[in-house]
Amino acid sequence: MGAAADPIGSARPARETLPSDMLSEWTSSKHTRSGAEICIRPLRPDDRVREIQFVNSLSERTRYLRLMTPIRFLSSQLLDQFMDIDYDQRMAFVATTMRDGIEAFVGVVRYGRTDQPDTAELGITVTDGWQRDGVGRLLIDVLSRFARHQGFKHFIGIVLPENHRMLAFANRLGFDAKYNRDDHLVHISYDLATTG
Ligand SMILES: CC(C)(COP(=O)(O)OP(=O)(O)OC[C@H]1O[C@@H](n2cnc3c(N)ncnc32)[C@H](O)[C@@H]1OP(=O)(O)O)[C@@H](O)C(=O)NCCC(=O)NCCS
Repeated sequence: MGAAADPIGSARPARETLPSDMLSEWTSSKHTRSGAEICIRPLRPDDRVREIQFVNSLSERTRYLRLMTPIRFLSSQLLDQFMDIDYDQRMAFVATTMRDGIEAFVGVVRYGRTDQPDTAELGITVTDGWQRDGVGRLLIDVLSRFARHQGFKHFIGIVLPENHRMLAFANRLGFDAKYNRDDHLVHISYDLATTG
């Protein structure tokens, strides 16, 4: 996924930095269902260490379900890929909390343009201790609004069939889900044009 693999490309050139007015427009303070205060904001270039800490904080199971491969530590190559955001074709939002005055991620949602028209592939992770508290729903909500704003019409994603958490989540949020016999994965899709 991503613009480099996109033979169609975008009508507009990708931005390398997020303009400050856009940063403030897309940053908000929210409460989870249990009342915890979180900030939802775009991923920034200075978030590299927070991204490492976030991935390393995940249980092995959560990391496996998200990445679909059993990795123990984040490689610098994968980290580069996670940080490679252009605020247009490749976007990520983070949910953060303050711990002893230090900001930490509790969830990350991202998309990257695919080679299908107006379609982006989605990925989402909420850290184990914060799951089932509404963080995932808040993250999908902001990512969907941003993607619509950028002209995307569809989200797609692939999910391991044993990932009951994600399948329940996708079902609850109105995604279509279909098991694919060829790759043995569940392909999910979400119509941004008619939802939200
Ligand atoms: C899937 C995931 C992102 C959900 O995030 P979350 O913050 O726990 O989800 P929310 O609390 O916002 O839940 C929203 C809805 O999804 C459903 N849901 C979420 N987790 C569920 C679970 N474990 N079992 C059943 N339903 C669940 C609920 O119906 C919930 O509805 P409610 O708001 O009425 O309770 C999270 O479990 C996760 O990060 N999993 C590991 C990584 C992963 O698998 N990513 C997907 C690969 S693309």
